[in-house]
Amino acid sequence: MSVRYQLVERLSDGAFHSGESLGQALGISRAAIWKQVRVLREMGLPVHAVRGRGYRLSAPLELLDAERIAEELTPGARERLAGIELHHELDSTNDFLRRNRALPSGTVCLAERQLRGRGRRGRQWVSPYGTNLYLSLLWRFEQGVEGLGGLSLAVGIALLRTLHELGVEDAGLKWPNDVLVHQAKLAGILVEVAGESAGPCSAVIGIGINVDMPDAAAREIDQHWTDLCHAAGAAISRNRLASGLLECLLEALHDFNELGLSPFLEEWRRYDLSLGREVQVRSGGDLVTGRGSGIDVDGAFLLETLNGLRRFASGEVSLRITE
Ligand code: BTN
Repeated sequence: MSVRYQLVERLSDGAFHSGESLGQALGISRAAIWKQVRVLREMGLPVHAVRGRGYRLSAPLELLDAERIAEELTPGARERLAGIELHHELDSTNDFLRRNRALPSGTVCLAERQLRGRGRRGRQWVSPYGTNLYLSLLWRFEQGVEGLGGLSLAVGIALLRTLHELGVEDAGLKWPNDVLVHQAKLAGILVEVAGESAGPCSAVIGIGINVDMPDAAAREIDQHWTDLCHAAGAAISRNRLASGLLECLLEALHDFNELGLSPFLEEWRRYDLSLGREVQVRSGGDLVTGRGSGIDVDGAFLLETLNGLRRFASGEVSLRITE
């Protein structure tokens, strides 16, 4: 592990550490410690320096802990989980698993920060260090890419179930998979599939949840956003969030694999923010207006228009609730 992240681990208790003791523990000079502290501040970590006492973070920082996450899972979920890849920093947890598709199905990748976090439709996913959740899961399917149209919707339901367990009751889903609270984005899902259209294939399922977004990072977000601390009105343990999410996600993937989207349709209706509302769908160059009419069993969006019911498959389609 790099010196920088060894330093973060030492400072994560929120207590004072003298430059000298840190230097000794990490095998570098006090001046080098100071240099690293400056980098941590640039990353958004509030490191205070007090003459005669040393360095400390303004508050303890709960770092992600693979052992703790696995321990908090039920035996059933632990069996479905192949392993946890935990990194302080990655380009993107999705890209890590895409580069390592040979890893066993059920491998999870988490990072404390992403340097090139990606959202849908080429957007950036703002991913500062140690404050939010960036999680991806590799999962193999036998039924081919063609059968995975509804996968990201099932993942959305798994995410909503997780949020409900945390007491966030007012989150909803905007097709295909935006998680919103009072129209502000709380979480997003990016599913990337590869393989045969009707044979073995794999999906990298990426989930980003804003947990406690720092102000400086928030300035980079180009949409209306919120985070879990605001939505839940309380501090959230990211390790508990990760294990709660994995619990729901692994169960949902198992069910989706066996039964497709049908076990999720009723819940989708409950969480669907566009149901019965006026909606604009942008598909390619076209803009179509109508009323949201839910989804079909393949996960396509149904829009009631003056010219009848229109169906939109996921992909480069975007949806705006206008009423
Ligand atoms: C979106 O709503 O646009 C999807 C956002 C998905 C973000 C997550 S964070 C973990 C994983 N790694 C990425 O680079 N993106 C996904």
